[in-house]
Amino acid sequence: MKKRVISTDLMEEDYKIENSLRPKLLCDYIGQSKAKENMKVYIEAAKARGESLDHVLLYGPPGLGKTTLAGIIANEMDVNLKITSGPAIEKPGELASILNNLQEGDLLFIDEIHRLNRQVEEVLYPAMEDYSIDIMIGKGASAKSIRLDLPRFTLVGATTRAGMLTAPLRDRFGVIHRLEFYTVEELTEIVLRSAKVFQVSIDEQGAMEIARRSRGTPRLANRLLKRVRDFAQVKYDGDITLPVANFALDLLEVDKLGLDTTDRSMLMAMIDHFGGGPVGIETLAVTIGEDSGTIEDVYEPYLIQNGLLARTPRGRVVTEKAYLHFGLKQ
Ligand code: ADE
Repeated sequence: MKKRVISTDLMEEDYKIENSLRPKLLCDYIGQSKAKENMKVYIEAAKARGESLDHVLLYGPPGLGKTTLAGIIANEMDVNLKITSGPAIEKPGELASILNNLQEGDLLFIDEIHRLNRQVEEVLYPAMEDYSIDIMIGKGASAKSIRLDLPRFTLVGATTRAGMLTAPLRDRFGVIHRLEFYTVEELTEIVLRSAKVFQVSIDEQGAMEIARRSRGTPRLANRLLKRVRDFAQVKYDGDITLPVANFALDLLEVDKLGLDTTDRSMLMAMIDHFGGGPVGIETLAVTIGEDSGTIEDVYEPYLIQNGLLARTPRGRVVTEKAYLHFGLKQ
């Protein structure tokens, strides 16, 4: 039987856009070697036992392949994939209905699982642990709770912040993996693979330049590849080479370390207004007009990983490397 992907909400468009580039099997998935090797063992073992896979939690910054990995797990297990997200499920009854419609072995992917509200989350506990849900029938004094058995399913939860998950939810995942930023070599491979899918001509150096400026993130690498392709087509002869990539990426205001205008304005605000820090995250957010959660989830992890920003008990501080990058110190 042909297995289906069923999107239950707004994730659909996003999923479709990236879908053509997503590897379908573990052997085509580049990078994340630790998560990949471990998942390979768990999948093989579960299949050999004829059981569903244990629940999996994937966490890490956006764009590193959490949804892709969920799709691959479903393909490798040869089961249906059902996709939803924390904010899309508002009421316990909605989650109960999603769970009740699952078939034996199905994989339910919940993106941004840390954003499930408390009442909805409580439906998940018995569902994950005992494959059952308790639903209330009737109202007032005559209301009674009945237990509904669910098929054995696998929940794959994704979050940008594992720290924001409640302990009871986190404890119910049998497998927990942190996805890491990709190396330039891995991203180069991804760019070359995507270019092949897009049927765009690119050389190794052009791919490497895009990779270098993609903040360790495949989603960004693929987005930059598409924009560079546009410049190559309109301003050059269509081939992406190092000079073409440099020309386009400079125009896109993505610098040599992959920093964009928000990264730079954040670091410069810290230097100009707070003497390089320490500065509290909320103060910083107000100063640059950005949401503090977005700074924490999207911007900060790469800057910290690259040693441009540091977290201290008294707030964030700009590092020596950032001053050097901006040419403010020799
Ligand atoms: N496209 C996006 N992420 C990828 C990955 N990790 N491996 C291969 N292709 C990808």
